[in-house]
Amino acid sequence: MLETLEELENRREEARAGGGEKRVAAQHSKGKLTARERLDVLLDEGSFEEYDMFVTHRAVDFGMAETKIAGDGVVTGWGTINGRLVYVFAQDFTVFGGSLSETHAKKICKIMEMAMKNGAPVIGLNDSGGARIQEGVASLGGYADVFQLNSLASGVIPQISVIMGPCAGGAVYSPAITDFIFMVRDTSYMFVTGPDVVKTVTNEVVTAEELGGAKTHTSKSGVADAAFDNDIETLRQVRRLYDFLPLNNREKAPTRPFFDDPNRMEESLDTVIPDNPNQPYDMREVIEKVADEGDFCELQKDYAPNILTGFIRLEGQTVGVVANQPLVLAGVLDINSSRKAARFVRFCDAFSVPILTLVDVPGFLPGTAQEYGGVIKHGAKLLYAYGEATVPKVTLITRKAYGGAYDVMASKHLRGDVNYAWPTAEIAVMGAKGAVEILYRAELGDADKIAERTKEYEDRFANPFVAAEKGFIDDVVMPHATRKRLCRAFAMLRGKDLQNPWKKHDNLPL
Ligand code: HXC
Repeated sequence: MLETLEELENRREEARAGGGEKRVAAQHSKGKLTARERLDVLLDEGSFEEYDMFVTHRAVDFGMAETKIAGDGVVTGWGTINGRLVYVFAQDFTVFGGSLSETHAKKICKIMEMAMKNGAPVIGLNDSGGARIQEGVASLGGYADVFQLNSLASGVIPQISVIMGPCAGGAVYSPAITDFIFMVRDTSYMFVTGPDVVKTVTNEVVTAEELGGAKTHTSKSGVADAAFDNDIETLRQVRRLYDFLPLNNREKAPTRPFFDDPNRMEESLDTVIPDNPNQPYDMREVIEKVADEGDFCELQKDYAPNILTGFIRLEGQTVGVVANQPLVLAGVLDINSSRKAARFVRFCDAFSVPILTLVDVPGFLPGTAQEYGGVIKHGAKLLYAYGEATVPKVTLITRKAYGGAYDVMASKHLRGDVNYAWPTAEIAVMGAKGAVEILYRAELGDADKIAERTKEYEDRFANPFVAAEKGFIDDVVMPHATRKRLCRAFAMLRGKDLQNPWKKHDNLPL
């Protein structure tokens, strides 16, 4: 009997050793943790239950029959993050470079299916050389099985991908379908075709880091949501994000204990809007002053920074925030900011996270680059996302809400539940200067007349009261009372129940 027990321990030890000391040392020398070390950081201490530790591949070609390593390059199972269930897989680069074989894929699929059945998120730690070359199409099939489950799980359970090493070729498409992608600076990269292929096909010379490193994907492409300096910091930030999220689409996000008075008055907000309407201010400051304990978990911080997206809590309840940022391009809407915000709004709606929209937007960005780039379709994504969203929607216009962008930013007309404005709000088809130049073209030579017309226009529209008279704004609120009014609005909306008409699925403007 004892021998049998020992045999189990030996086999476990063997599996835990992964690709062996030399390869583990090589992993560490790159500043990377091993798959199991990463799971230790990600999960609550002692909570990890590993499955399929003894699984090996079934390949026989290229000498593979003699090279079997227990676990087959991926560690899978479940554990908890601050006591809440989560399913995980962590690719083990020390075993066949973390490459994906038929059985490696089956292990991932198994925990994804469990996650969907039991209603808890999946977090995947990616560190892989891609398709297991020795297995050919069996490996490609394995990838497709994962993609299929990613698609089915989308909107059912939150899916988070953490890129902690190579992620290349078709392998990138699993993370791409998931809800959030975090990367590690300097040690991770993602691309469809690597630098060598790029050079052959397009003659461009580019490094892996330039082509698909964390900086590229958090600032240029917008593929990733955040990047951090090392494995430990990245995994800690994943834990932070996870705490904001519900387990699945049938549950609400957890309500956390809070120590910030919901009635807290924030006098400094009374002076945040500059006297000059063209002077910027930092909308991030408004968000932090309103949030419980000033905690704002920002996503896509360096991509399309003219709009801000992320999670805060109000009275301990998760709220998704979308806010124009006047500090960058005057907070204008363009292709990238529309796409960024639309995907975030759709995540919130799919997972019953209420949405707070802070508006200071001069309109859509003009220009051939925008029009040729399809700003019509991309802008429509955000409009559509707000229009279809049935979660509680509270909107606050702090300053400008001009043109189509007024409509888009969770206006009353797109089923905004509570629409507030600060007294400094200006709600109009366009700014005074542009309006007067169109309406009074014949008088443009007469400076006094134009000044008079401009004043007349400003008096009429550079305030929230025309919209408030029509009921498009429910109330004009004092900036210092913003936190209190928002907390009360979301509390009032907690029981909201709204259904869209039946459809197989929508046809959003992709
Ligand atoms: C099998 C692989 C492998 C793979 C790496 N290894 N990639 N084994 N299949 N795809 C093995 C290596 O043989 C080596 O084994 C170990 O992993 C570590 O690899 P190294 O090359 O020594 O490491 P490093 O120098 O850090 O380079 C990492 C790498 C490189 C850049 C990822 O290994 C590489 O270019 N691999 C091939 C990448 C690739 O082209 N994959 C297919 C992409 S197409 P030993 O025994 O020496 O430790 C694809 C299609 C997906 O993925 C389709 C979905 C639709």
